[in-house]
Amino acid sequence: MSPSVALGSHDPLTESADALVVCVFSGALAEHPTLRALDRTLGGALLAHAKTVEFEGKPEQLLDLPTLGRLKAPRLLLAGLGAADEISPSRLRSVLASAVRAVQNAKTVSLVLPREDIDLRTVGEGIGLGAYRFDKYFTAERRPKTTLTKVSVHLPSNKAPADAKKALALGGEISAAVALARDSVNEPPNVVNPEALAKLAREIAKDNQLRIKVLDKKGILAAGMNLHYAVGQGSENEPRFIHLTYAPRKKKKKIVFVGKGLTFDSGGLCIKPAPGMGDMKSDMGGAAAVLGLMAAVSSLRPELEVHGIVGAAENMPDGSAYRPADVFKSLEGKTVEIINTDAEGRLVLADALCYAARLKPDLIVDAATLTGAALIALGKTCSAFYTATDELARTLEGAARDAGELFWRMPLLDELGEGLKSDVADLKHTGDRYGGSITAALFLREFVGKTPWIHCDIAGPALSDRARGIVPKGGTGHAVLTFINLLERLSD
Ligand code: BES
Ligand code: MN
Ligand code: ZN
Repeated sequence: MSPSVALGSHDPLTESADALVVCVFSGALAEHPTLRALDRTLGGALLAHAKTVEFEGKPEQLLDLPTLGRLKAPRLLLAGLGAADEISPSRLRSVLASAVRAVQNAKTVSLVLPREDIDLRTVGEGIGLGAYRFDKYFTAERRPKTTLTKVSVHLPSNKAPADAKKALALGGEISAAVALARDSVNEPPNVVNPEALAKLAREIAKDNQLRIKVLDKKGILAAGMNLHYAVGQGSENEPRFIHLTYAPRKKKKKIVFVGKGLTFDSGGLCIKPAPGMGDMKSDMGGAAAVLGLMAAVSSLRPELEVHGIVGAAENMPDGSAYRPADVFKSLEGKTVEIINTDAEGRLVLADALCYAARLKPDLIVDAATLTGAALIALGKTCSAFYTATDELARTLEGAARDAGELFWRMPLLDELGEGLKSDVADLKHTGDRYGGSITAALFLREFVGKTPWIHCDIAGPALSDRARGIVPKGGTGHAVLTFINLLERLSD
């Protein structure tokens, strides 16, 4: 559960809390009114100690101190925001998340912001994101002793702007949507199978008044999504196709998000090596991002029709599994020769993208943990994205920057498309090993027709091996914040 976040009414220095967190800009610590008051209370030890340990308020710099009974809060944490004139939404969100993570065993926290004009929605987001934990499978002594239940937020003047409550609440709802994406990645694959994703989508639809359509294995076959069907045919956990719709009365555009929902990717008959195979529970990271976005959309209420589509399946080897050399007819009509059963994501997406294009949207955005090659190209923390439209690229770059998530544009190199020519069908579904993220994108492009389209290969950042800023260890919910910001830009 995320903590309740509200504006504090008391003086933060006399409010009782397990920890007092003070956010400070870098430099001039001695002129900071709250720090000066705290320094006096602590007999001059605070500023002197900050100097000793070289705490200057640099971005993400933290100073954790006991208050030795001189303050109501037994613990004081200073959190550096960096230079006042360089503060951005992403830095603010990140520092707050780091600070909240650092005091995670406190039950109650008082938080002091450095300035009146700080965006409280971003504050709400940062607190919720930093407080995230996935501990439901711990029992007995592994259970956390305490959890953060309440954060009171203080502005320097203690005078709240009129919309403060609403902004903090919206930030909390957005962080909850990211948490939903993180949870579904962190859940083990024996729990999150395709039907479990469909169940989650039904819950999201119910809570947010969205329309929902789910196709089961038979329905997928009857609809002609033979590529999606093929990927799922080797598993006892049957595939699902999920379609959520948010349709407000006033709408300027229609946007469709499509997520790869491989609840486990063993590689199929072209089975993956054992080391690292467990990470493939995160192969539904794209689906998680789309479901997280759809959970947030009714809080955001954009003047846009927003569709969320998930192609869910489990890629397993068994007697009925699809094989290399098989040929299937896609929903779009093109036939595809299977080369490697471990390149399953693009098959599921191909049919889902064709379905999306038939909705005649203004834009399709897909998110998929699609290729190891994207990790080789950009590392573990940055997504690769592709679009033929420069203006869309700039919009996505702006959205990612504000969200504090890394996305880097990659080229759709037509030459590499040569590798997708098949001797027996219209297309092979994999090309050369080199440029593997690009050929995957080129394969997907065959199924979107003329619809403006952004493809996001989130294979790296969907899962993190360490906590840093807004990112926890494990499932990250990567892309939810960027997609939210993208929607806001498209509805402006
Ligand atoms: N889900 C994987 C891609 C992946 C790898 C995601 C590592 C996250 C971390 C995808 O289905 C896959 O197996 N891709 C193959 C494609 C190849 C067989 C053409 C790959 O990248 O090796
Ligand atoms: Mn695979
Ligand atoms: Zn996969």
